[in-house]
Amino acid sequence: MRLLISNIKTLAGIADKGLLRLHGSEMQCLGTIDNAWLLVENGLISFFGSMNDMPSEGFAVDKEINAEGCIVMPSWCDPHTHIVYAGSREGEFVDKIMGLSYAEIARRGGGILNSADLLHATSEDELYRQAMRRAEEIMRKGTGCVEIKSGYGLNTADELKMLRVIRRIKESVPMRVVSTFLGAHAIGRQYSHDEYVDLIINEMLPEVGHEKLADYVDVFCDEGFFTPEDTDRILEAAARWGMKPKIHVDELAATGGLPVGVKHGALSVDHLENMPESEFDILKNSGTMPTVLPGTSFFLNMPYAPARKMINAGLGVAVASDYNPGSTPSGDMKFVVSLACIKMRLLPSEAINAATINAAYAMGLSGDYGSIAPGKVANFFITEPIPSVDFIPYAYTSPIVSRVFLGGKEIV
Ligand code: NIG
Ligand code: FE
Repeated sequence: MRLLISNIKTLAGIADKGLLRLHGSEMQCLGTIDNAWLLVENGLISFFGSMNDMPSEGFAVDKEINAEGCIVMPSWCDPHTHIVYAGSREGEFVDKIMGLSYAEIARRGGGILNSADLLHATSEDELYRQAMRRAEEIMRKGTGCVEIKSGYGLNTADELKMLRVIRRIKESVPMRVVSTFLGAHAIGRQYSHDEYVDLIINEMLPEVGHEKLADYVDVFCDEGFFTPEDTDRILEAAARWGMKPKIHVDELAATGGLPVGVKHGALSVDHLENMPESEFDILKNSGTMPTVLPGTSFFLNMPYAPARKMINAGLGVAVASDYNPGSTPSGDMKFVVSLACIKMRLLPSEAINAATINAAYAMGLSGDYGSIAPGKVANFFITEPIPSVDFIPYAYTSPIVSRVFLGGKEIV
């Protein structure tokens, strides 16, 4: 199957297959070709170039699309979501407007524990149905790779139920899905802190590991949740099952989780709203991608992570939606890119690289996804006719995605 897209106003997000992530000032380089063509063969990106140099012969294609006036972008990659959840929590949304903080709601037994109660009362099929609606929503908005976490089970049976739902989503969508075991999201209602950490290590991780239900492991290492010592123990136990960490740190307070993540070779450390600058050096020369979640700061009315300063210090940064019922009920990566520009002062090129190539890296997928490169999976979208790439974050509520291709096939 050969698909040719011709007369593309701008083909954006070109980066070599061998380039796994971008650091510091490199993040300003959004490889582009104006007036371009793109050839897709058997689900992979095969060739592209300027229309002026398009070979006039030898293009026996099955389908041609004239993309005049439109931009072609690599699909968004969203490396941090919690889209498997039951119901919603708009009651807490109102509580927050009335003055309660996210941490206060959690201390009163609401928050994540509310979602755990709802999930417990929801059948696996119904949970799958609700989560698939969210998966379909984000695909239509241009997301082509997504990480999905467990963490609303908080007992062994319900954590496994969530991970089985993630596996079903993986098997049924054209989007690339990776799964993360986040048993350490909050202390399950029926356990003490220490009992629960022991349960994760001695029961949950072995079951998840045996059934190969998770690619990665996560811990909410923060004030009022799990300590750096808990995190160290959980990550060490997960390593025995081959699960690399991607952890929540420095959201509510800087409690020392980041160095623990880096020590265990974390693929990413996420949130970072309260990250001290002294942690920048720990990330330098590490394989760990700081991943910031501007939608969470927007929704919780909290400080934004210091992404601008990290990039100025030479670090690479990724962005993610954090789509979840409590702190970010949205998986709109275009809006996340706009917030990264407006609130974190990233340039459009930096924010787009943070949401594509660097975000793919934060899921361990940037060898095959996250940029336009020969040999990579053909995950991309064609925009509506728009004036420029910068228009994408600028027009911060205008829908710009016109046609979505995943694995070279158009989704409808
Ligand atoms: O990433 N911070 C911890 N976990 C989620 C929120 C989960 C929830 O409130 O349901 C987050 O923001
Ligand atoms: Fe999260």
